[in-house]
Amino acid sequence: MNLISQAVLEDFRQIIAVRLGLRFEDSKMDYLEDILRQRIEANGKIALAEYLTGLAKGTNKREELRALCSQLTVGETYFFRAPEQFRAIAELVVPQWMRRRKSSPVLRMLSAGCASGDEAYSLAIAIREHFPEVPQSDVRIVGADANPSILATAKRARYTDWSLRSTSPEIRDKYFRKDGKTHILDESIRSMVTFEERNLAVKDHTHLDFEEYDIILCRNVIMYLVPEGAQFAVAQLTSVLAPAGFLFLGHAETLRGLSQDFHLRHTHDTFYYQKCEKHDVELVPPPLELAPAIAAMDLSWVDTVRCASEHVECLARDSTDHRTRAQVELHPVTSPKAANLLAPAQFGIALELLRREKFRDALEVLRDLPCKASPDPDVQLLRAVLLTNVGDVPVAETVCQQILSADDLNAGAHYITALCREHAHDTKGAMVHDRTAVYIDPEFAMPHLHLGLLAKRAGDLKTARHELEQASVLLPREDASRILLLGGGFSREALINLSQAQLNASGGPS
Ligand SMILES: C[S@@+](CC[C@H](N)C(=O)[O-])C[C@H]1O[C@@H](n2cnc3c(N)ncnc32)[C@H](O)[C@@H]1O
Repeated sequence: MNLISQAVLEDFRQIIAVRLGLRFEDSKMDYLEDILRQRIEANGKIALAEYLTGLAKGTNKREELRALCSQLTVGETYFFRAPEQFRAIAELVVPQWMRRRKSSPVLRMLSAGCASGDEAYSLAIAIREHFPEVPQSDVRIVGADANPSILATAKRARYTDWSLRSTSPEIRDKYFRKDGKTHILDESIRSMVTFEERNLAVKDHTHLDFEEYDIILCRNVIMYLVPEGAQFAVAQLTSVLAPAGFLFLGHAETLRGLSQDFHLRHTHDTFYYQKCEKHDVELVPPPLELAPAIAAMDLSWVDTVRCASEHVECLARDSTDHRTRAQVELHPVTSPKAANLLAPAQFGIALELLRREKFRDALEVLRDLPCKASPDPDVQLLRAVLLTNVGDVPVAETVCQQILSADDLNAGAHYITALCREHAHDTKGAMVHDRTAVYIDPEFAMPHLHLGLLAKRAGDLKTARHELEQASVLLPREDASRILLLGGGFSREALINLSQAQLNASGGPS
């Protein structure tokens, strides 16, 4: 076949994103080109344009999409991958479910993106091992995957040594029978699991419309999806998860930016999510009433800070009564309507006062915010930062707790809580909150720095070096607004120097 142009490959990538939800980086374009050539060949050397149009419009055979999916997905998995999660499920999550379960005695679990079935069967083995008294009919495990060929492998239930590399010899001998070089899974475990072909990331005939689950594992799947696909997958999983049900993601994945329907939990050295119940959702404070231009945007915390700062610059510049910026700061407009409109301005003013280390003045400005704006997490976080700066640490921690009770995935609130815990001489608690912050946002430099300092002080130089190295890598690209807010009054350069000096004092880079 002739050369395939970049534009055609780009179309192919787009079609795959829309029809399958799969994401491919620029570095994977050569790989996509190989696959495209193979599919054209497999389709009797169909014309490229005809093939792509059929794929885009869904007019070619459904088998073609399935074949593409089989070739494009990554099926790497093994039994008891991330064993801490299986321990958490057996020792905490299932017992919790047992205490709460109401009418239905059946424990329903979904392995979403189950690949060759290792994860779904591991769940079955874990339940059998930890709850031998539970009748088999009371446990239902479904493995779902978009890749039809890998599901066929799952149903065969024959595995190599490599698939059992994280399985103890006792479990292997108890539940598998050796047949040459493969291990055949026992029928008693196989019969606990059924498999279904489902694409979680797109709305097609395979989307999840089935029953409710108590526990869902969707590990190492959303990392392969385009943002819209990940959003759709999480929404689907949320809709089929029971209230207060449990969700486990891969260790490098978070729900940050994908959902606010979950509480973040931590146990057994792992994070997991628990779906909010209806009354939890009702407790979430209403969003801050920002000026329309700001409110119209879908803003992250950092963006909000930036926009608010820009907005206050504009207000100061464009002020029709020609008041100076200082006058605006000193004489905030107090009529309710004007106060509402000025909420972002006051927010920006409070930030500016933080920059100038006028913490008490900044707190005063926030105190004057209209009631509707007060519970906004961004305002609350700024308040918590200011409170730590004036030494009112217990109140700062309470403010953080309020933020986290509405949104467990607020990395900034976890970080400020870590500082408060350190102040209360609770190093362990501080480290848990720092770790939670970096789990939620792996690019967040300050909790790495804080973790490094805490570890160094505790004499754990290996951890100190690791965290300080991370901080040194992340600080140069850390967002300026976040440094202003959470950098403890230090400039970027000062923070970089601090982390490098502490790294050297801990024995230097590893
Ligand atoms: C890397 S494996 C992870 C397997 C297992 N969950 C684990 O963590 O070991 C990813 C699996 O997700 C499946 N997958 C990817 N995108 C999917 C989608 N949109 N819907 C359903 N499954 C998908 C792939 O086919 C593959 O089998």
